[in-house]
Amino acid sequence: MASRRKRDQDDDAKPAKLNKSTLRKFFRLFRYLRPYRSAFSIGMVLLLLNSMLGMVFPGLMGRLVDATKGDVPTDTEALFDLGNIDSVALLLLGVFALQAVLGFGRIYLFAYVTEHMLARLRQDTYEHVVKLPMHFFATRRVGELNSRISADVALLQDTFTTTLAELVRQVVIVIVGLVLLTRLSPQLTLTMLASVPVVTVVAVLFGRYIRTLSKEVQDRIADTNVVVDETLQGIQSVKAYANEAWEALRYGRSVQAARDLAMKGARWRGAFVSFIILCLFGAIVLVIWRGVHLKEEGVISTGELVTFILYSVFIGASIGSIPEYVTQVLKAVGATERLMDLHDEVAEPIDLGPKGAPLPIRGSITFEHVDFHYASRADMPVLRGVDLQVEPGQRIALVGPSGAGKSTLAALVLRFHDPVHGRVLIDGRPVANYPLTALRDRMAIVPQEVLLFGGTIRENIAYGKPGASDAEVQDAARKAFAHDFIIGFPEGYGTVVGERGVQLSGGQRQRIAIARAVLKDPAILILDEATSALDSESERLVQEALEHLMKGRTSLVIAHRLSTIRDADRIVVLDKGTVVENGTHEALMALPEGLYRSLSRLQSEGITG
Ligand SMILES: Nc1ncnc2c1ncn2[C@@H]1O[C@H](COP(=O)(O)OP(=O)(O)O)[C@@H](O)[C@H]1O
Ligand SMILES: [Mg+2]
Repeated sequence: MASRRKRDQDDDAKPAKLNKSTLRKFFRLFRYLRPYRSAFSIGMVLLLLNSMLGMVFPGLMGRLVDATKGDVPTDTEALFDLGNIDSVALLLLGVFALQAVLGFGRIYLFAYVTEHMLARLRQDTYEHVVKLPMHFFATRRVGELNSRISADVALLQDTFTTTLAELVRQVVIVIVGLVLLTRLSPQLTLTMLASVPVVTVVAVLFGRYIRTLSKEVQDRIADTNVVVDETLQGIQSVKAYANEAWEALRYGRSVQAARDLAMKGARWRGAFVSFIILCLFGAIVLVIWRGVHLKEEGVISTGELVTFILYSVFIGASIGSIPEYVTQVLKAVGATERLMDLHDEVAEPIDLGPKGAPLPIRGSITFEHVDFHYASRADMPVLRGVDLQVEPGQRIALVGPSGAGKSTLAALVLRFHDPVHGRVLIDGRPVANYPLTALRDRMAIVPQEVLLFGGTIRENIAYGKPGASDAEVQDAARKAFAHDFIIGFPEGYGTVVGERGVQLSGGQRQRIAIARAVLKDPAILILDEATSALDSESERLVQEALEHLMKGRTSLVIAHRLSTIRDADRIVVLDKGTVVENGTHEALMALPEGLYRSLSRLQSEGITG
């Protein structure tokens, strides 16, 4: 598992293959750049100046070597006397000071642009993702979406703050460097070009291969850890099946694979060091040797030779680093592509603006010949020709075997999905004609497993009505029979719950969810097996709280335990996606071959009550 996850992430960071659509997506990023384009342009100018000024250094160093103390007649037009040690040293200092200012400016500006642009991008991506329809989330892993927003944006962050600037800088160094070198000595430049870049590029590729190998070794080691994890966690099964030898063999194979790969890596690392010593230093020696010859022949001065060697080192280093930066940029292009694909997913028409007055909904629900299947499994009908009429304020129970389509039916009321055929109407108006956010705002659902958000109990209840006062929250908690246990905690309503907080029992969580729903005051209430996971003691309390909650609203109660829905206005029995029975408890019990009757019988035999 662990290594699996790791490899997935590595795949994520793969550089993009450039094609038209990829590039188009990448350029969409510049929409986010636009508001900051002046800062970006100034940053770019500073960067170019910065890079070019950096090229003055080797030249001045050469002058420093050649310079003499005192007044040697030189270029009279020059602002500075480049033959004088003191002047050259001063000039060098001046260059460095200017470099310092330029460097600070460009780093600050690029960071400013990037941070603002990516904060916006993050926010937009998040807002888009939360607006995506439920079927989108059915097919994506949360981890994957999370890494879109965090890892992919972080990759862009690196690229825009550092990589892009470095890439530009290195390219400037190579171009300007080569021009200056050629002016200094074309012969020596040719010698240099024939050796240094070639060796550098080979060294870079070499290095990259070694890195790939060591990453593979890490993966293999992670694989061995998986074996250890699995067997130790399932040690009881290992022993019960007397499979110690088999597991040892499995682990051994895994360890050997890691070892062999590590040795392969070691051989290549050794070869790499030998290569560097022989070729890279060889190339440098070659250039120096040729340069000294040229100096002896009087073609160049000692200072010029120094300049030349420094430029060569600069150019070599730049050429060596360019492939890495290009890879980084391509990775960023890939990350952008994935982000933009996410942005291209069609969102629900959700309104993120402030909530208006509640929709005046009375709460009748109508299903007209509804057919439905999930997009991910088009061949499996989930609802077939469902007709249903619920009057405002009625309590309707939905029962049926698991997988019958009860939760799906409720999801259609919430408009999590749209019917494939037929219509769902609320107050006689198709759900599609309501503003989605306002419509859902008039509904509440209490599911079987309530997830509390990390935060206080007060915040979790107020989730039903953001901005609710303490009095409203407490009132809701009282109605949900939650007040007493809440004030039993030392911190009361300020008790932190959720993953990092106090662990509440199932019944307590359920009552908090009910308080949340009370606060929301919905016209339509959906209870999806709200008490199924509870023991009978907490079920009693929760059931009582639910009775209060259901008063005066249209309620769709999906129940596992049939004893809880006996007095519903109507019981709808769903089987394999179709409504097979529909009536009061008494009417359904009177059907001799009825599904409700037989389910009811089964339960009263199994469970007392
Ligand atoms: N998100 C989904 N994607 C694909 N199939 C689903 C999805 N949710 C439920 N199903 C399938 O739809 C059928 C009905 O499920 P559901 O409405 O949850 O039944 P119930 O609530 O009655 O147990 C089941 O066969 C289930 O496997
Ligand atoms: Mg269900």
